[in-house]
Amino acid sequence: MPLIVDKGLGNTIAADTTLSFIDGAKGVLEYVGYDIDSLARNSTFEETTWLLWNGRLPTARELAAFKVELQREYAVDARMLDVVRSIPRTAAPMDALRTLVSALGHFDLEADDSSVAANKRKSTRLVAKTATLVALFDRARKGKSFVASDATLSLAGNFLWMLTGARPTASMERALDVCLVLHADHGLNASTFAARVTISTQSDMYSAATTAVGTLKGPLHGGANQEVMEMLLEIGDFAKVDAYIADKLARKERIMGFGHRVYKAYDPRATYLKTFAKQVAADTGNLPLYEMTRRIEEIVLAQPNIIEKGIFPNVDFYSATTYYSLGLDLDLFTCMFAASRMSGWTGHCIEQLAANKLIRPHADYTGPHGLTYQPIGQRIDGETSSSSPSVKTAMSVLA
Ligand code: CMC
Repeated sequence: MPLIVDKGLGNTIAADTTLSFIDGAKGVLEYVGYDIDSLARNSTFEETTWLLWNGRLPTARELAAFKVELQREYAVDARMLDVVRSIPRTAAPMDALRTLVSALGHFDLEADDSSVAANKRKSTRLVAKTATLVALFDRARKGKSFVASDATLSLAGNFLWMLTGARPTASMERALDVCLVLHADHGLNASTFAARVTISTQSDMYSAATTAVGTLKGPLHGGANQEVMEMLLEIGDFAKVDAYIADKLARKERIMGFGHRVYKAYDPRATYLKTFAKQVAADTGNLPLYEMTRRIEEIVLAQPNIIEKGIFPNVDFYSATTYYSLGLDLDLFTCMFAASRMSGWTGHCIEQLAANKLIRPHADYTGPHGLTYQPIGQRIDGETSSSSPSVKTAMSVLA
């Protein structure tokens, strides 16, 4: 087959999936055929995870059994607590999470058992423990004692309990749960692709999950929600929004929380969250922040050509104020994205292995050819090994 150049792979289909469907032009997202809006309104993170992994909604008995399986896995091996404590308090939580997800594999006797059954059990462990690890690290870095997990709570409720040591209200638990549902899967996004690349080498689930956490961290992917909140706090006041955004746009800077590689219409996750975030903000006394986001949206969407370019608010724009209203530190926002997307990452890994093909694209080599090897003693500092213009061009690109 002739090779095609597709940098960023935006025009390449690299996998089949039955987990989620996106129509970027129409602004549609479905998990296994169910519209994201109906799942956000009616489902829970536990049910959504079961749906993604099993290709259908669970019965009441199946869901109850799955919740118990997850709840049994909230706690981590006691030796993991030492790993959590050994991470510098100054570490960014996403960096800590990357280390901790990797370390989980050391304490799982099934880490290298790649049977489907073992991979499903490890997926349950990874989903159950990721939120736990975030809560543990946050308490360790603040010098607080750990809070033992509570196996009677939902994953969202248990996370808030382990983070704060206080029982979350039903509306707080629901707010976090909705964010978890909305972030659980999203086609072949960058971190899911990274996970599938890793598992396609027949590596293990912990390695794939670790790769994915590292990939999610970037501000062009999962890191955007933190940057949205930093922007809102930097603006500080509704009256300053117009001037701040006008200045940013004049300097051709990107507004975080806007735009998407796939959606060229309103991100359907943002549609629901926009209304939901308002309620959460109102309940927690953060309505002024929410009003700022609405004003930013108005200004950005009124820009010439912006709608033609397909720039609309994405999921991170409205999840930022929701997480903030729940009292989460800004640098935990992306960790919550990871705790949710773990269900998608692990589901995609199992799907990849079911019909595996090593993912290995090509690179277009743009360097020189046919150079003569120069012994080290003949090389002069500051000079390239050849006067060939192609070498000089390549070197100037790299500089
Ligand atoms: N603000 C202003 N202009 C933008 C923005 C933005 N946030 N995003 C894209 N554009 C413009 C960009 O300047 C370019 O304009 P022109 O054609 O005149 O040069 C055009 O839109 C296309 O941009 P692109 O970078 O080629 O598009 P992309 O598909 O590679 O980028 C993106 C997608 C998400 C990286 C980008 O929209 C962006 O940087 N957004 C801000 C970061 C963000 O919010 N990321 C979270 C994504 S949603 C969560 C997730 O699923 O990961």
